[in-house]
Amino acid sequence: MSSGIRFDKVTVQYGGNTVLDSLELTVEPGEVMALLGPSGSGKTTALRAVAGFVRPVSGRVFIGGRDITSLPPHRRGIGMVVQQYALFPHLKVEDNVAFGLKAQKVPRAEIPGRVAEALEMTGMASYAARYPRELSGGQQQRVAIARALAIRPNVLLLDEPLSALDAQLRSGMLAELARLHRELPDVSILYVTHDQVEALTLADRIAVMDKARLQDCGTPQDLYRRPRTEFTASFVGNANLLPVKVGSGSVTLRSTVLKVSTEGVAPGASATLCVRPHLVGLGEDGPNALRGTIAEVQWRGSTHRLYVDVGGPDGAGGHRVKADVRELRETPALGSEVTLHFAPEDAVLLGADVGGARDREPVSAAGVSDG
Ligand SMILES: Nc1ncnc2c1ncn2[C@@H]1O[C@H](COP(=O)(O)OP(=O)(O)O)[C@@H](O)[C@H]1O
Ligand SMILES: [Mg+2]
Repeated sequence: MSSGIRFDKVTVQYGGNTVLDSLELTVEPGEVMALLGPSGSGKTTALRAVAGFVRPVSGRVFIGGRDITSLPPHRRGIGMVVQQYALFPHLKVEDNVAFGLKAQKVPRAEIPGRVAEALEMTGMASYAARYPRELSGGQQQRVAIARALAIRPNVLLLDEPLSALDAQLRSGMLAELARLHRELPDVSILYVTHDQVEALTLADRIAVMDKARLQDCGTPQDLYRRPRTEFTASFVGNANLLPVKVGSGSVTLRSTVLKVSTEGVAPGASATLCVRPHLVGLGEDGPNALRGTIAEVQWRGSTHRLYVDVGGPDGAGGHRVKADVRELRETPALGSEVTLHFAPEDAVLLGADVGGARDREPVSAAGVSDG
């Protein structure tokens, strides 16, 4: 069985509630796809549908082009790692890793070599004779990954595998997972997370989930630069979302006219203008100037995050605009008047009247982070 996963209109219900709504998604052979979304959005359910632990009420799941919807879990050629290590506490590391091989009836003579290979890959070879309780959380998770890899899966399912680890370990493990994927370029990986940094760092493409539905799907850069929905814009990175009326080559925010591309959007439409905070500058520069009052300042080491009320206080007809500004010599005083600006090409129009007008372009898979 080769790799690659395809969800064909997969719907899952629990007690009559639809928790996965007609999911259509393809993970290419060798691709890392992150399923990113808030808690309860249906990510784990999608993973369990691939693993065979939940039966869709409708739709089919394919692995390597083969319909596996009715196949029992152990015959799907899948390795799975979940958040809580889930090692058998009474078995040594090597026996934990051998477990899946025995279940798969791998010939006895082959097992020690396969176990050693998997432990080697995850840097745990010297811990083979220990018990899980003698390992740190990070080490236990490496063993769990070794156990998943030992069966030489075509498909690796990872469900928030790093969320039980502290921040420093997490970033080390992220680098490890990226390395593992380079060593196993044919394995398709479905990586569930609610953490955008993990998704942006690891994934070739990100599928954004909310409320049981796929909201958006694209490369990290594409989703970041050209989000299709307000949900994607605010969940992948940080965003200013401003309600505007669309004109021709410009939009109006209250009475301020801003120059942006309105290609493909009918004049007169209501839309949301999305501008990333790090693309908003301080000072008057170019066509798009927004005057306002500083409501809050946060110093973040390499940047100042300014919160500027434009057109009156937030909530009283005005809008609070976020700007991440570098190299400010002095921290601006609260209440002072400032002008912000952004380049027309750095703004994206979103909304019902805009949606679907744009097609995703293939972009290289390097990650971006909002900081
Ligand atoms: N075994 C179950 N029985 C009933 N409801 C469930 C079960 N598993 C998950 N759910 C519900 O399905 C929805 C999606 O859950 P899940 O896929 O675990 O979300 P996520 O992984 O995105 O946090 C949630 O509302 C959750 O409460
Ligand atoms: Mg989950």
